[in-house]
Amino acid sequence: MPEHPVKSLSVLAPAKINLYLHVTGRRGDGYHLLDSLVAFASIGDRISIKPSGAFSFRIEGPYASAFTAAELESGPESQNLAVRAARGLGDLLGRRLDLALTLTKNMPLAAGLGGGSADAAAVIRAMLDAWQVAPQAVQGLDAFLLSLGADVPVCMRCRPAVIRGIGEEITYLDEIPEMPILLVNPQKHCPTPDVFKAFAGREFSAPHPVPVSVKHTQDYLELLLAARNDLEAPAQTIVPGIKTVLEAISNAEGGRLARMSGSGASCFGLFENEELCLVAAEQIRQAHQDWWIRAGTLGRPQRH
Ligand code: C5P
Repeated sequence: MPEHPVKSLSVLAPAKINLYLHVTGRRGDGYHLLDSLVAFASIGDRISIKPSGAFSFRIEGPYASAFTAAELESGPESQNLAVRAARGLGDLLGRRLDLALTLTKNMPLAAGLGGGSADAAAVIRAMLDAWQVAPQAVQGLDAFLLSLGADVPVCMRCRPAVIRGIGEEITYLDEIPEMPILLVNPQKHCPTPDVFKAFAGREFSAPHPVPVSVKHTQDYLELLLAARNDLEAPAQTIVPGIKTVLEAISNAEGGRLARMSGSGASCFGLFENEELCLVAAEQIRQAHQDWWIRAGTLGRPQRH
């Protein structure tokens, strides 16, 4: 494989939204089996790469201070998935890390938006692009992505997909109709293990039937409205503010669906049109200045 000099570039690490999430069972090891439709938004973190004689890693942006010392490390022992992704890809390709990596952390951490996995996947996309290596040319790439985390393969493709099992069974779908989306996080810690613990004793759901292609927004909304996020109620026992967030989104004019993503605490609203989505963002921001609120588009984040 010919080696190309690294070039400067920046890519979006889009928020991964669980448009619905059914808990369908529990494995012997305690992990829960899920059925979820995921799609990606134009909102997210950013990964930038610059040519450099030696590898470096730094985090900037509004949530940079939320990382632990071990997550700020750029060495092989780093606890940051973005660094592990960069080092692992270098090893896989037998290439020296001739780049400086910057993560601009715009999304709150552990927020139910797939942040760490999205960042790791974006690092790999950015590095392959900078090195001008096609993903198909990397032997063992799929296994490497999965070794970083169950959500990393789907974040790598940034395409809508139904995920089952604990996230490792992925069925990619056709692109979905683009919709204005509002993301709202009450900025309260909602740890995933606690949410699954709070789910204990509740009934499992059946998987939701999803066709590979849905062309019209209305059909798409009906499909989503017939499903739910089974972790919404248990998450509210940990962060009661999630209920307030969902009410604020539901009460906004033009809102068609309000739901929590992942294990929370972020919630999303799908809106009739972009203008009403922006108005809702502004109104909710006025009433709740301590919440994280972003408006954007759901679908085709590759363009951003
Ligand atoms: O995937 P993550 O490391 O965030 O999961 C944290 C915890 O959440 C796990 O240790 C497990 O207790 C619970 N979990 C689960 N089923 C899943 C994912 C997470 O029970 N599919």
